[in-house]
Parts: sequence; C-alpha cells; structure tokens
Amino acid sequence: MPLLEVADIRKRFGGVEALRGVSLTIADGEVVGLMGDNGAGKSTLMKVLCGAIRPDSGTITMAGRPLSMRSPRDATAHGISVVYQDLALVNQRDVATNVFLGQEPRRGFVVDRRRMRREARAVLDELSIRISSVRLPVGGLSGGQRQCIAIARAVHQGGKVVLLDEPTAALGPEQQANVLKLITGLRERGTAVVVVSHNVDHVLAVADRVVVMRAGQVQGIRDVHSTSAADVVGLILGDTAAGAVSHILGPSTEAPTASTTGTSAPRSAQ
Ligand SMILES: Nc1ncnc2c1ncn2[C@@H]1O[C@H](COP(=O)(O)OP(=O)(O)O)[C@@H](O)[C@H]1O
Ligand SMILES: [Mg+2]
Repeated sequence: MPLLEVADIRKRFGGVEALRGVSLTIADGEVVGLMGDNGAGKSTLMKVLCGAIRPDSGTITMAGRPLSMRSPRDATAHGISVVYQDLALVNQRDVATNVFLGQEPRRGFVVDRRRMRREARAVLDELSIRISSVRLPVGGLSGGQRQCIAIARAVHQGGKVVLLDEPTAALGPEQQANVLKLITGLRERGTAVVVVSHNVDHVLAVADRVVVMRAGQVQGIRDVHSTSAADVVGLILGDTAAGAVSHILGPSTEAPTASTTGTSAPRSAQ
C-alpha cells in the first residue's frame, strides 16, 4: 500500500485549469522528483498536498485513510510538512528556535531553552547537518545551512512526507551536494520526500522516481534506474521539442520518443 495516494486532483483558478486530474503515489521512504516547465502545476500540487490550497475535486489518501485537509495545520497533523522556497526562517533568532518554531518546549509559560538547544542539536546530528552552534542566528548562516535547518524543522515536526520546493536552486555546488546528501539521509530513515526541481541531474541523483508534469497533468512517470536525462527533459519539453533535446544532449540509447508520453508504469530497464 502506498503511503500517500493522490487521485484525480483538479484545481481551477478562474479560467486557468492548474491541475487537470493529477494522480500519483508515494511509498514509505521514497524520494519522488517533481519536474515540469513553469506553469505546469507543480507548486499548486505541492500546495494541495500540504493543505494550503483545497482542490476542487479528487482525493488524498494516507496509508489507506482519506485525508480531509482544511489547512496546513491539518496536513502537519497528518505528517505532511512543507519547506517553501523562501524557507520561512526567522533570521534574527537562533538555530534551535528555528528548528522548533511555533513548537518550542515550555516549562510553564517559559520556553525551556536548555531542552530546546539539546533537542535541536540532536536533530541536526541525526541528520548529519554540520552547524557549529545551535545558538547562532540563522541570518548569518550560508544558504545551504539555512536550507538544511528548514528541512530539519520539517522532519522534527513529525513529517512522514516532506515536500521540498526547489531546495538546491539558490545554492552553490558544495551546498547543493550537502542538501542532496540530506535528502538521501531522509530516505534512509524512512521519510518520504517530494522534491520539486528544475535540475535533472539532481533529481536523477537522489530520486527513486521522477514525475513530470505538463499543463496541469502528469506527462510521465519514470523509475530513475530506467531513464536518462534526455528522456526526462524530452518529457518536460514535450514531443515537439524532443528532437531538439536529443540534438543538444547527444545521441542516447533512450532518446525521447512519442511513446514516452502518458501516465503508464515506468518502462523496464533495457
Ligand atoms: N493563485 C493563483 N491564481 C491564479 N492562477 C494561478 C494561481 N496559482 C497558480 N496559477 C496558475 O496555475 C498554473 C500552474 O501554476 P503553478 O502551479 O505555479 O506551476 P509551476 O509551479 O509548475 O510553475 C499557471 O498557469 C499559474 O499561472
Ligand atoms: Mg512553481
């Protein structure tokens, strides 16, 4: 049984059909890369999954149980956490406070800072996030460290499914590698991850499956072990551009073809 099952989700904004019947599954500890051109519907789907937008129709099922999500708070309670691109960290506050944000441990009315620091350190260590002190204000940390803290918070808040929106987009290569390593670590501890990315190499490096969206629909789903960068880019751009892709990326044993469209099961390895 999949951990999370999304079935026939539709969402319209006025005249724009942002999601036109999206279905997909996510297994326990699976990393799903969500790709697609601008306007494909990725962000809208993430917002539906984290309770920020209510779909017009369709169902979301967690471990076989239908979820009714009226707010992000409901999604968090069901174990779905999101890390938006702006990270929503409080720069003036320290690392420990940001890991706990809104859920600080208290003794009476007072935040229990010692416990918060101790537990924040334990969370960072468990995820192999290297930050010298949890007392540092997050505003002074690198983009990669800030991204890792935002992910640590999502995990700490009990996320069984963590949704990441472009986690490596604003980072340098070394920090990108750290974040990709963190995603791999999440999978090892059984956390499911949906990661939106425009970077095919990053997705192929960390994901188990790639879901490509186009114009509000799932254009194709691929197992990373039986696809190629050219195949995925071909799906993202569509059939008319597929020839150009194989031209840019060079000849591939799995050049994109018209038959790569559709939502059928991943092709088996050749
Ligand atoms: N709040 C909104 N109001 C109106 N149109 C929206 C809104 N959010 C998204 N859209 C439209 O829905 C489509 C999908 O957008 P989005 O989910 O942001 O795509 P992506 O994240 O893949 O770039 C686009 O045409 C976008 O303009
Ligand atoms: Mg988007």
